[in-house]
Amino acid sequence: MTTCPFNPAEDGAQMAFDGRMSYGDYLRIDQILDAQAMLTPAHDEMLFIIQHQTSELWMRLALHELDAARRKIAADTPHEAFKMLARIARIFEQLNSAWDVLRTMTPSDYSTFRAGLGQSSGFQSWQYRLIEYAVGNRNLAMLKPHAHRPDLTARLEAELARPSLYDEALRHLARHGLPVPEAVLTRDLRAPWVHDAGVLAAWEIVYRDPQKHWAAYELAEKLVDFEDYFRRWRFNHLTTVERVIGFKRGTGGTSGVAYLRRMLDIQLFPELWALRTTL
Ligand code: HEM
Repeated sequence: MTTCPFNPAEDGAQMAFDGRMSYGDYLRIDQILDAQAMLTPAHDEMLFIIQHQTSELWMRLALHELDAARRKIAADTPHEAFKMLARIARIFEQLNSAWDVLRTMTPSDYSTFRAGLGQSSGFQSWQYRLIEYAVGNRNLAMLKPHAHRPDLTARLEAELARPSLYDEALRHLARHGLPVPEAVLTRDLRAPWVHDAGVLAAWEIVYRDPQKHWAAYELAEKLVDFEDYFRRWRFNHLTTVERVIGFKRGTGGTSGVAYLRRMLDIQLFPELWALRTTL
């Protein structure tokens, strides 16, 4: 038995990177690890920053996948979108598990740096709003916190001008002969979604005979799966917030827990939930 430490170079590992692209170069690790600018000496501020930053990275991937999934549905190849929609649901599952790390922060820990946050809050996450707008939850009031950033406002406005994921799903259904009301297909895309009896009736046709409408059925279940995980994210956020700040107002200025509780009631694909009762 040898006591010498193993040298990976003997196994062919690349050990010299002068002038060649390394792991850190490719992934811009220096930039990423340089972005945790703590504003206070509080130990737990690092956890708080990294939890938000990693969430934003996962949201970036979710947006990337959402964009592609929508294009596939618009091109009437929904089966190619299923993998992306499944991945988005898994991203939210991952974000749901991440709350367990943040929950190790007590109210006492948070109070050591909360004042340093000023008015900043996840409420101002433009990627989160972009996800909401992309899937179909379009509330124009949420544009306002980004008015000082014309580049972000332009991105959010561009999203509002496009059919949402749900709009694309319904257009796809209509092209396959399902009776989606014309008013829904030509609706004002910027307007918030309003529950529609005709859309519910169209989904009911799909769910009453899944074999006949298999792709639409599978698409519907992928949407429900995503919303299920998204709801859990909202709920986990809410309980974490209550555990850490109780019923204090948020740094973003809202009532805090009461505001987040209200957001829990928002349904992304209401007809897909309603049909569970009506079927
Ligand atoms: C201890 C940790 C956290 C606390 C106490 C907290 C608190 C709050 C509060 C009170 C709000 C309501 C808006 C306000 O008045 O500020 C809010 C909104 C929000 N937070 Fe957090 N949060 C925490 C962690 C996170 C994390 C890790 C994320 C991940 C990105 C996040 C994302 C969001 C988002 C996206 C909203 C907007 C929700 C909506 O408008 O529906 N929060 N947060």
